[in-house]
Amino acid sequence: MSGAERRCLVAGNWKMNGLLEDAMAYVAELGENPAPEHVEVAIMPPFTLLHPMSGPLSEKGVRLGAQSVYFEQKGAFTGSISPLMLRDAGCHYVILGHSERRDIIHEDNALIRKKMLAAWQAGLEPILCIGEHLEEREAGKTNDVLREQLAILEGVAENKPLTVAYEPVWAIGTGRTATPEQVVETHAFVHEELARLGCDCRVLYGGSVKPDNAEALLACPGVEGALVGGASLQADSFMRIIEAAARAAG
Ligand code: PGA
Repeated sequence: MSGAERRCLVAGNWKMNGLLEDAMAYVAELGENPAPEHVEVAIMPPFTLLHPMSGPLSEKGVRLGAQSVYFEQKGAFTGSISPLMLRDAGCHYVILGHSERRDIIHEDNALIRKKMLAAWQAGLEPILCIGEHLEEREAGKTNDVLREQLAILEGVAENKPLTVAYEPVWAIGTGRTATPEQVVETHAFVHEELARLGCDCRVLYGGSVKPDNAEALLACPGVEGALVGGASLQADSFMRIIEAAARAAG
């Protein structure tokens, strides 16, 4: 793990899952102290659960994040949630550029950039997701795709709170993970590109991270945490990933 004094982050992206009663039971299952010394823990539930989860999570030292945001702070934007509202609900993080929003909702880099600027304005830390599709990897275009997705940081990201998550799209929700060699090589490229852009930020890995592969992935040089989808939906499997992160960091 690089970034000696940086804590790694294990973040659970619940996507469009979770009702109030189950969420409260989940938080109880996390126990008193779910975040070990060298590991930061965060949960990104759907918008409807942000307010009720905020207090109980913060008591346990778990940070709260949202899965998306609009790029204006308030006004006539029916159905939208602003960065200011996320701060008001107790969020520290907001996920931006997730491949499901890029591919299903057609969010492009220009829109993601606007959201990132608005998130910073409200004091949020974006988790910027980047990643290539399988055809792009097979065509040897991975680095070009990542370079283009990171280009939104050009000239604006220095000294800003930021985490990047490398999530190969072909590994998300598929049970297929990148090999440690692919992870090491790609993370090295992402860190290099970030350094060129003046950002010294954490880079997480995401895509089918599970309790049984987490330690190997998190031990890869350049990997400073995980963005976990499916395996974060059950408290026990999420906690096993947190423990794996603590072993990899220790
Ligand atoms: P997954 O999702 O762990 O279910 O593959 C990861 C993500 O989409 O962030």
